[in-house]
Amino acid sequence: MSALLQVSGLEARYGSSQALFGVDLEVAAGEVVALMGRNGMGKTTTVRCICRMMRAEGGISFDGRDLRRLPSHRAARLGIGLVPEGRRCFADLTVQENLIAAARPGAWDMAAVGRLFPRLAERQAQVARSLSGGEQQMLAIGRALMTNPRLLILDEATEGLAPLIRAEIWEAIGRLKRDSGLAILIIDKSLKDLTAVSDRAVILARGRSIWSGALEGLPPDLAQRYLGV
Ligand SMILES: Nc1ncnc2c1ncn2[C@@H]1O[C@H](COP(=O)(O)OP(=O)(O)OP(=O)(O)O)[C@@H](O)[C@H]1O
Ligand SMILES: [Mg+2]
Repeated sequence: MSALLQVSGLEARYGSSQALFGVDLEVAAGEVVALMGRNGMGKTTTVRCICRMMRAEGGISFDGRDLRRLPSHRAARLGIGLVPEGRRCFADLTVQENLIAAARPGAWDMAAVGRLFPRLAERQAQVARSLSGGEQQMLAIGRALMTNPRLLILDEATEGLAPLIRAEIWEAIGRLKRDSGLAILIIDKSLKDLTAVSDRAVILARGRSIWSGALEGLPPDLAQRYLGV
């Protein structure tokens, strides 16, 4: 059986500067895959290519369909929910309005998002700009879930957030994995938290995938060299 998301030999460039030189990556239905690597190694660029926000060479298929032939709004409709780097929400809209604006039919609705993140339910009527960074990240995740995706992509799941709220977000991601069986592609700097939540990881270095496997089996010398930990 083929994976839900299958990326092979992905190459991409910004103008004349090549950023990806051959990324291979698979996410099966229900699987949580960590996409790792030091700063500037191509994680966000890979995500942009998968979400059709930039042109790429190589293979990208989702549910057996060639994604490169579809415009990006179709990619979203196919079922990819993105939580982008920098967690963009509509700052002047309330929590509720942000969630409704993203809604597509399915099991994820306001009530389900509120159960995952009770803080959001409590702050339904607040405008997004008045939320803390962690609450805004919860809202960004909630928005992606409201599209009822088959694959959720989190680019920097907890970057720049306070430790307590980080823990809440990791806990929610763990629950998503256990209870919803959603396929997740996740980027973060915390090896410890990624090890706890992911089935597998793919490590990028200079725009290439250079290692893939369960993080428990990551050799310390590779962790040091490619992740700096
Ligand atoms: N908008 C852009 N224009 C030009 N070059 C870019 C742009 N975005 C990224 N790059 C370059 O592409 C390469 C890969 O960057 P990318 O943002 O994909 O890395 P990353 O792994 O997500 O890094 P980080 O951990 O810092 O988020 C880097 O050399 C970066 O400088
Ligand atoms: Mg990035």
